[in-house]
This record gives sequence, C-alpha cells and structure tokens, in this order.
Amino acid sequence: MTRTVPEAVGNAGDGVHPTRADLRSALADLRAHGEISTISREVHWNRELGTVSRVALQHNAGGLVFENITGYPRPEARCGRVATNLLASHRRMAILLGLDPDTPYPQLVQHVLEFNGKRLSPVVVGTGPVKDHVVTGRDVDLTELPVPHWHHLDGGRYINTFGAVVTRDPDDGVMNVGVYRGMIVGRDKIAMLMVPSQHWGRHWAKWTERGEPMPIACVYGWHPIMDILAGSPIPPGVCEYDVMGAYLGAPVPLVRCETVDLEVPASAEIVVEGHISPDPETYEWEGPFGEFTGYVSDVPKKRPAMAVSCLTYRDDPIFRGTLEGSLPGSSGENCYLSSVQRAGIAWETLERAGVPGIKQVYVHPVTNGTTIVVQIRKVHEGHAKMVAAALWSSNAALYRYKYVIVVDEDVDPGDYSAIDWAIAYRVQPGSDDIVMFPGSFGSPLDPSTPLADREVSRLGSGLWNRTLIDATRTFRYEPQEAWGGKNFPPTVVPAEEDLDLVLGRWDEYGID
Ligand SMILES: Cc1cc2nc3c(=O)[nH]c(=O)nc-3n(C[C@H](O)[C@H](O)[C@H](O)COP(=O)(O)O)c2cc1C
Repeated sequence: MTRTVPEAVGNAGDGVHPTRADLRSALADLRAHGEISTISREVHWNRELGTVSRVALQHNAGGLVFENITGYPRPEARCGRVATNLLASHRRMAILLGLDPDTPYPQLVQHVLEFNGKRLSPVVVGTGPVKDHVVTGRDVDLTELPVPHWHHLDGGRYINTFGAVVTRDPDDGVMNVGVYRGMIVGRDKIAMLMVPSQHWGRHWAKWTERGEPMPIACVYGWHPIMDILAGSPIPPGVCEYDVMGAYLGAPVPLVRCETVDLEVPASAEIVVEGHISPDPETYEWEGPFGEFTGYVSDVPKKRPAMAVSCLTYRDDPIFRGTLEGSLPGSSGENCYLSSVQRAGIAWETLERAGVPGIKQVYVHPVTNGTTIVVQIRKVHEGHAKMVAAALWSSNAALYRYKYVIVVDEDVDPGDYSAIDWAIAYRVQPGSDDIVMFPGSFGSPLDPSTPLADREVSRLGSGLWNRTLIDATRTFRYEPQEAWGGKNFPPTVVPAEEDLDLVLGRWDEYGID
C-alpha cells in the first residue's frame, strides 16, 4: 500500500491545522540535543535489549533506538526497530514538551499543571502513514514484531509496556487512551492486566454488562506526548486526544481503525486492533512482570485477552516499548513522567479542594509518586491533614500517594536530607503527626500489599494502608520568651546581620 498525504475529513476549525508531530519528529528533536543513541550492533530481543536498557538507565544515557534486532532484519522484517528510554530524564521530558532542555523541575510541574486542563479536539483524516500496511485475519502474527522479552523473570514478551490502549465508553462515546500492560500469548492474542478502577476498566464493565466484547486498539509509537498523557490519570470522561492537541498546539490527526469503531493517530508507527471478550473462557494466563515498583511481585493469573483482528503500520516502523521497574540509581520512563505528572495532578487536586498555601509539590522519580512531598505555607493546625485527605480522595491516588509527607516553606521538598531533618525534629511518633488511613483503595502491584488485598477481580482494586507524615512545625506550643516569643524553637541558622558581616569579610579570613 502506498502512503497518502493525510487529508482532513473532519473540521480542524478556523484555519487550525493538524500537528505534524509523531515519534519520528520527537526522535529528531532528541537527536538534535544529543539525547539519542542509535544501536546498530545486533542485539537480541530476548533479555539482551532489556538489559542494555537497564544499564543505559544506570549510566544516565539518552534515549535508545535499536535498529539491528536478532531475527528482525531490515528491510525484510515487518518491523526491525525498537525505541525506548525516551522519557527517562527530566531533560528529555522538557525537550519532548517543547521546553528548554534545562527547564527546572518546578517549572515542568507548572507546565503540566497548566496544559492538563486545556483541550483541543482531534481531527479525523481520511488516511495516514499508519495505513501504509494493513494486515488482517490469519495473516496477523504478533511475533513478527521485535517485541522484547524485557526481563528474565517476565512471563513472556510484553508488547504493551508503553502501548497506548484506546477504548470507547459505550454510553457517551468518549474514547479513553491509557497505558496498561499486556503480554503476547499467541500469534493474535494479548493477555492484559485489567484493573476495574482504571478508566478502561470502567468501559470494560459497561461492555460486559451489555454482554458485548469491548473494541480495543493499541498504539505503539507516536509522539511521546501520547505516552505522557496515556500514562497519567486525566479525569474520567476527558479524552486524552483532546489534551494531546492542547499540548501540541494543533489537533491530533486521527484515522479510523479498520475493524473496530475507534480512532488512532494517523502517523502512529504500529497499531493493533481487536476485541476483549467478557467470557472468562477466553481469559489467558498473564504475568509475572517486572513492574514499575522495581519488583516482580504479582502471581500469574488468567486475565482478559485481546483477540487481534488487524495490524496496521508505517513503512519501516519503529516499535515503542519501555523497560519498567524503578531501582535506586536507574529510574525509567514511567518514573520520570510520574515524577512530573503525579506532582502536577496532585497540585491540581489540592487546588480544586481549596487547600490553601501550596508552595511546591515534589515526586522523587524512584518512587513514581508512591511517595509525594507537599511544601506548604502552614496557615492552621491540621493543614497537612487537609492535604492528605484531598489527595487520598482523588481517583488519581489509585497507584500513588501511599506516603504523603508535608513540610514547611523552609524545607526543600526536592532535598531528601532536608526532609529527613524535618521528620527527625518536627514529627513526634505516637502523636497525630503520623496518621494511618487503613483499607484505602491502592496498588495491587505493591510487594508490601498482602496477596489477599491484591485480588482486583474481587475487590475492584488493591488495598493500601496510607500514611501521612506531618513534618510541619506544630502550632500547639505556647510562645516562649527563650524562643524569641515564637511558638516553635528557632534553628541555628546565623542571624542575617552576622552573615552579612562574615560574607563581606570572607576573603580576609584566608579560608580556601
Ligand atoms: C509505562 C507505564 C506502564 C503502565 N502500566 C500499567 C498497567 O499495566 N496497568 C495499569 O492499570 N496501569 C498502568 N500504568 C498506569 C496507567 O497508565 C495510569 O494509571 C493511567 O492513568 C491510566 O489511564 P486512565 O487514567 O485513563 O485509566 C502504566 C503507566 C506507565 C507510564
């Protein structure tokens, strides 16, 4: 099939043209900043590729494009390239968000906080590069794609690591785009981890109630803004394509799928289409998988499986995937995107709840947002509890915000030594500075969650006991003359006039 220039059949609106952004434009941007390594030496898809990705993360190397994969020679193979590690640094995230590469973390958080709330509808075009090749029926064989067996303990080849999963709400017709893991279990089958409280899980419940299979499309490779938003809890009922358009400043050009009533980016690299049946007889074994927690902690189960009816792809496509699993010293793509998005989304949640005095929100990449630090200008006792209550009541807390640490303005939330100091001297164990919130919905993938509390098919979600650490200075003490009339002791920070004097004379002291 020959490529045709996308032609708009929808209305992009007053002279607004669809974006030309795609995975290839993103790779070109990263390459221009020296942030891409192209690996032309032969690399095996079976464990070697995943291990190279892990070591590259340990060495803070850039994004990787593998273009010589054992068994998938170019140009004969359907696909001979894999792109990964693209989002695994704040610098690369900044570049892909169209910002200065050195944009400081708090500004990245402000950026997503602003743009997550904006919308620009996509436009449906007649065709696009993703229709260069269309394979249907018995010709579909997913093993013809160079899907890595990422980690030696994975149960199989995980095709959905950074695949964007598109489903439609059968009631209001709104599409959802989310990232949910899936493993190849046959030439045309993908078994998937279905968590009912995720947005596609809500769609799934509605399709199941109707007794109909759920149409689904998985997109492997488009502009990473898709990965960033599909992997983030954009509110239910909002289609992530609308938010992607707002980020990119132009409507996302979509094409209709061949065999399901769904739309996918016209310049996506690879798309698979199909259905998931509600019949448990069709479920397939899935797992285990090296998860974002850094553990291979779940036990294999029979889970819903996508029956693939069609594969479409660009000429010489690039498969997009990611090595999951945060470890100290080698945080991956999910970690960095969560570090920014989970902080931005938390900030928005706090603002919507009317929590006053939010100064900064920080998520260390290695925690993926399981731990979040909120810096406040404290206005009343109990302020930190307001922060935790707001975060824990939000849908975005499903896999995140198990630990909420609240600090004062003088404690840098991005500095773990500062947080440690605040916990050491502003927190009294046994008092209400540490509050547990047991039996909350939570992550079924956390190795510290007992297996009985991870039964998502029965419980609808995993269960977590959440904890607030209020590391702010208490307002409960009486003011003391010895403390300068304040109600909390002063620190040993030098007096300003002493510091001015000393710094003014510094060169005279002869200290190197
Ligand atoms: C790389 C990556 C892999 C993920 N894998 C899963 C997964 O297997 N299952 C899941 O429920 N969520 C997974 N997530 C988190 C979801 O994508 C995230 O919760 C998102 O908000 C889901 O979209 P939704 O809010 O529209 O349901 C993953 C996120 C990323 C970035």
